[in-house]
Amino acid sequence: MSGTIKLEVCESSADVALKASEIIASLIRATPDAAIGLATGSTPEQTYARLADLHRGEGLRFARVTSFNLDEYWGLDGDHNQSYRYFMDDRLFRKIDIRPWNTHVLNGTAANPDLECRAFETKILAAGGIDLWLLGIGTNGHIAFNEPGSPVDSRTRLVNLAPSTIAANSDGRFFKDAASVPRFALSAGIGTIREARRLLLLATGSGKADAIAQALEGPPSTDCPASLLQSHPDCTFIVDREAASRLESA
Ligand code: F6R
Repeated sequence: MSGTIKLEVCESSADVALKASEIIASLIRATPDAAIGLATGSTPEQTYARLADLHRGEGLRFARVTSFNLDEYWGLDGDHNQSYRYFMDDRLFRKIDIRPWNTHVLNGTAANPDLECRAFETKILAAGGIDLWLLGIGTNGHIAFNEPGSPVDSRTRLVNLAPSTIAANSDGRFFKDAASVPRFALSAGIGTIREARRLLLLATGSGKADAIAQALEGPPSTDCPASLLQSHPDCTFIVDREAASRLESA
């Protein structure tokens, strides 16, 4: 079955977060034991803050939810303040009632990366597959750390980060300089991500405008990994006006 990516353009990044958190909350209300895929980075931070508010203010329960994160820097321990395990604990997991043992973030210091990646895929299968995977997009069109050139059927594996990704993540938001950014990561593959029943990609800011235009209006190509979502049967992009600014159709 092939689909077309649905597009929602919001006035602001706060509205993107509001919409995304409402979609995730509705899923959890309808399916309390949902398996949810999560992303890190700047883009989902407001969504996680809103989900934590819904837990505190409206009693949204995560006690039966299982989560799987897209990626982790290779070489960083979960206690490192730039690891994605640390990010998730800090921005979301510690603020909600999700059970720590139900949160799956790849181990960046695993003794054997291949075994770690295979075990991650096995856990996704054991959870019955992923109901919804929340995604961001890199300025180069990457999803997770699937950089341009990544195969459409790629699975969870050890990958190289592209120079543009290292530059984007050393702009002061996360790492202070390029030398501190790990060169490798463990990342769910494009094939892994495409197996989720539903995909929700968020993008905010003009820095994402080219990648969003390429993903939605360019030909599906490994040059822009996010364009490979075009054939997914249930994929929605929620973007703000700036991220939509290069779209011909918006
Ligand atoms: C993070 C991830 C990446 C980011 C992307 C955008 O888990 O998989 O693909 O979603 O690099 O990052 P931000 O949101 O910081 O612009």
